[in-house]
Amino acid sequence: MRTRPLKVALLGCGVVGSEVARIMTTHADDLTARIGAPVELAGIAVRRPDRVRRGVPAELITTDATALVKRGDIDVVVEVIGGIEPVRTLITTAFEHGASVVSANKALLAADGATLHAAAVQHGVDLYYEAAVAGAIPLIRPLRESLAGDKVNRVLGIVNGTTNFILDRMDTTGAGYSEALDEATALGYAEADPTADVEGFDAAAKAAILAGIAFHTRVTIDDVHREGLTEVTAADIASAKRMGCTVKLLAICERSADGKSVTARVHPAMIPLNHPLASVREAYNAVFVEADAAGQLMFYGPGAGGAPTASAVLGDLVAACRNKLANTTGVGESAYTQLPVSPMGEVVTRYHISLDVADKPGVLAQVATVFAEHQVSIDTVRQQSRDRGTGAEGAAVEGGEASLVVVTHRAPDAALSATVAALRKLDTVRGVASIMRVEGE
Ligand code: HSE
Repeated sequence: MRTRPLKVALLGCGVVGSEVARIMTTHADDLTARIGAPVELAGIAVRRPDRVRRGVPAELITTDATALVKRGDIDVVVEVIGGIEPVRTLITTAFEHGASVVSANKALLAADGATLHAAAVQHGVDLYYEAAVAGAIPLIRPLRESLAGDKVNRVLGIVNGTTNFILDRMDTTGAGYSEALDEATALGYAEADPTADVEGFDAAAKAAILAGIAFHTRVTIDDVHREGLTEVTAADIASAKRMGCTVKLLAICERSADGKSVTARVHPAMIPLNHPLASVREAYNAVFVEADAAGQLMFYGPGAGGAPTASAVLGDLVAACRNKLANTTGVGESAYTQLPVSPMGEVVTRYHISLDVADKPGVLAQVATVFAEHQVSIDTVRQQSRDRGTGAEGAAVEGGEASLVVVTHRAPDAALSATVAALRKLDTVRGVASIMRVEGE
């Protein structure tokens, strides 16, 4: 066994970074045995050096991240700062100085993974980022290595814990979105500014990374269709329940039927209660992978938090250190298929549309005609008269309003959008209360 230690620089020492430092210390002997050499924390770059960090050696703290990555004796840089700049420059500088990089930075990898991968190859070092998607859950390595001999057709996942917590609360307690968000904030799941989670940016970055790896092509966050969950209402959840479904914020990456393109999207969707993803509760994450030979696989676990994310970082650190010792590099980017990413309009799925309509003769026929004109086939229709239009004996009276819920067969998203636009123009359609895709069937 080599006695000269491998040197590790840590960029960032917040919730995840401090856990990485702690585990490197408490598990030092095991890490040494597994790697084949000791690993030494050689420096920790932070923005606020005065902050108390229990268990983190004060003498290693510096505010000069650039000097740290330029030292030349660093074997692996662990980046847990987040954001695009200055991190992209720090990582490429680390590569130029011979260090491999382990990153948890989904935003950067989803925005500009290509630059980072190219720089890693140029300098003969590793770029690993298991922690960037779904915290502790092994996903990048299984997709990149375990399934390297298979053909992945679909990745369907709950990759944001905050939004899963909110939807789970809405489902179990009947709470509205704001009430459930307040609870998520009080419990520390949602940040003071929850935009990245509730508007789907966090999940979209993860979808881009997963789609690129699953389909051996390049996908950036700009290619991902994104809708958050702020418009999901208690009525949507109740409607989903009546259909034997629940609502989840899903990241969906698919190969097209002809195999010539891919799509990546994030939006709330109804899924049947008997789908494995329906049982993913609270802030847990899960990703369902469908591959030609393997069939259906599901990966489940904690998708966030200091220790779970540090677990994924440490796994990458061990792999990068082993490669350094063997003077080699691991599996890098695979983007040889160069499949284009199709727009959302080409996605084919099912829809649940809730309309407020006039309750009078011919309305149902009018609505059905609009669907037919756009080649969208209706699966089921449910109509319920509103109290306002109900007579003394409880019978619906003409001139009142009704709620009409239409569930379609599979249709292109563009056809559905055109259908909804045409429905809005009908005098008898007073409003489109909600449109939600139905997945996982
Ligand atoms: N904010 C994310 C979540 C964790 O709620 O899952 C970090 O990606």
